[in-house]
Amino acid sequence: MQIIMASLTSQLRQCTIFAALFILLVVSTTSQVGASSDLQDVAMAERHEKWMARHGRVYKDSDEKERRFHIFKANVKFVEASNNVKGRSYKLSANQFADLTNEEFVATHTGYKRDSSELRRSTTPFRYENVTDLPSSMDWRQKGAVTPIKNQGDCGSCWAFSAVAATEGITQIKTGKLISLSEQELVDCDTGKYAQGCDGGLMKEAFEFIKTQGLASNANYTYKAEDSICKTNAESHPAAKIKGYETVPPNEKALLKAVANQPISVGIDADGSAFQFYSGGVFKTSDCGTDLGHGVTAVGYGSTSDGTKYWIVKNSWGTSWGEKGYIRMERDVGSAEGTCGIVKDASYPIA
Ligand SMILES: *[C@@H]1O[C@H](CO)[C@@H](O)[C@H](O)[C@H]1NC(C)=O
Ligand SMILES: *[C@@H]1O[C@H](CO)[C@@H](O)[C@H](O)[C@H]1NC(C)=O
Repeated sequence: MQIIMASLTSQLRQCTIFAALFILLVVSTTSQVGASSDLQDVAMAERHEKWMARHGRVYKDSDEKERRFHIFKANVKFVEASNNVKGRSYKLSANQFADLTNEEFVATHTGYKRDSSELRRSTTPFRYENVTDLPSSMDWRQKGAVTPIKNQGDCGSCWAFSAVAATEGITQIKTGKLISLSEQELVDCDTGKYAQGCDGGLMKEAFEFIKTQGLASNANYTYKAEDSICKTNAESHPAAKIKGYETVPPNEKALLKAVANQPISVGIDADGSAFQFYSGGVFKTSDCGTDLGHGVTAVGYGSTSDGTKYWIVKNSWGTSWGEKGYIRMERDVGSAEGTCGIVKDASYPIA
């Protein structure tokens, strides 16, 4: 091109010839771009079909399919661009949420009540404040205190899953028995101000309920991913009880002391697309906000061979999200709120 430009300026006589050549060049290049983007669309459409088959997705009509295809394509591009960033400590994948916009995803798969409330800000004594000699790593899964990954489905019941996982943990630590407990009972029967079933809630509100009524096992009160009528069976009830709950002071040192002793319910900001498509590695504090919108459970901590410290967090989006349903989130980040706000609303049941 530079040679052409040079001759364009030096040999004005041939100007029109070169101009014609130039136009030809532009036209042919553009049509090639058009053809290759058509090819890309064909490849992307095939990819969408395969993805639909793998995830059993069926759309109601071709308009819906077209709409979902465009969302899928944008998400695949987002995932690939992120995975191409050199040195990024985590990977994304076009997982089962790849045909949902981030707004749709957040609206249906989180459920932490955002309205700030007295309950959210309340504090209590912190029994682990004087704990010293913390192990350098902890994994409550290896200690048998964590049930298999669950799936909240299209229901804003994260708060129930977060509180239940912490309750399952302390119950196993105290009794030696790991019993899967009922999120659905909280969804149906917890009538606290900040417990609104699939419309969201707070973990502390769930602990209040479990403190007064106990909680059924999952086996006796199974999960439906929708609001339904409360039907606690007195005979089988409860499978677990707690004496109450406490809050963790909002800093990473306190959270470490707490997680060293039991699984802890935490609120996080899981709103971004990076979180939606996370598939493994250590998720960085720079890639999320701190506006709490999701409830999960911190079930351990550790550090990678290169020294990056992380929290091990149990999510409730099934096993095909993240590291078999878990996420490792950067720890000791030096900010007051921790990665994705993880220290802002941490609490745990007492058995
Ligand atoms: C921690 O230590 C301080 C000072 O000795 C004491 O006042 C406080 O009660 C202790 N906290 C707990 C939870 O044991
Ligand atoms: C379920 O309830 C029955 C009584 O209705 C009880 O015998 C059984 O132990 C309960 N199962 C679990 C797993 O809690």
